[in-house]
Amino acid sequence: MVELKNITKIYNPKKANEFTALKDVSLTVNDGEMIAIIGKSGAGKSTLLHILACIDNYQDGEYRIDDTLVKKLSEKELSHIRSEKIGMVMQDFALVEDFTALENVMLPLDFAQKKKPNRRELALKALGSVGLEELARKPVNKLSGGQKQRVAIARAIVNEPSLILADEPTGALDTKTSAEIMEVFKKLNDDKKTVVIVTHDPNVAKQCGRIVEISDGEII
Ligand SMILES: Nc1ncnc2c1ncn2[C@@H]1O[C@H](COP(=O)(O)OP(=O)(O)OP(=O)(O)O)[C@@H](O)[C@H]1O
Ligand SMILES: [Mg+2]
Repeated sequence: MVELKNITKIYNPKKANEFTALKDVSLTVNDGEMIAIIGKSGAGKSTLLHILACIDNYQDGEYRIDDTLVKKLSEKELSHIRSEKIGMVMQDFALVEDFTALENVMLPLDFAQKKKPNRRELALKALGSVGLEELARKPVNKLSGGQKQRVAIARAIVNEPSLILADEPTGALDTKTSAEIMEVFKKLNDDKKTVVIVTHDPNVAKQCGRIVEISDGEII
């Protein structure tokens, strides 16, 4: 379970360009839920997702993931939580373009603390679960947008995280490809993964179990 309590996020605190991106945000996501976070551009969706992913800090409030308070943890403890529990699909894929799909998916395994001997098999399995096994050896820069999105999802799930976070995963895709990507997330959710999807698309949002709307840094 992840639980945000009264979170305030300020960019550039105490500087002239100080900006409060999240104000007093509280949100609980139960294990096995699939939720959508919607809101206008600049509302604070990515900021919220980055805090959930433990890749950004916050000034006030508390964030707990499975009862661990994510505050003042060492970089080592944070990277442990990130690699064991969280799979993040970034807004722009963040893939290494001239690596193959397989090499991209193997990357998180190289960073994991417990080195697994069968990295290649695990990466192939993750690619298989998004229907991309046959393209494993193709460089990412030769893949379509939908295929890249699948590689990004495979990379996010290769460590078998319980929480999957995705920032606009269908933002750059046509309707048909979006629907296919949503099927991948629904399948992950059927496999008991908790899924949080940031989206502008009402069609994507309504396929989730719950919709959370954020406006000017506040949940409404
Ligand atoms: N590193 C940063 N430094 C300063 N301000 C930032 C930073 N990142 C985001 N912001 C500001 O915080 C606000 C929320 O940004 P965020 O990226 O969370 O919005 P968003 O809802 O994801 O928007 P979009 O739909 O366009 O992706 C925006 O006003 C943005 O300009
Ligand atoms: Mg964003």
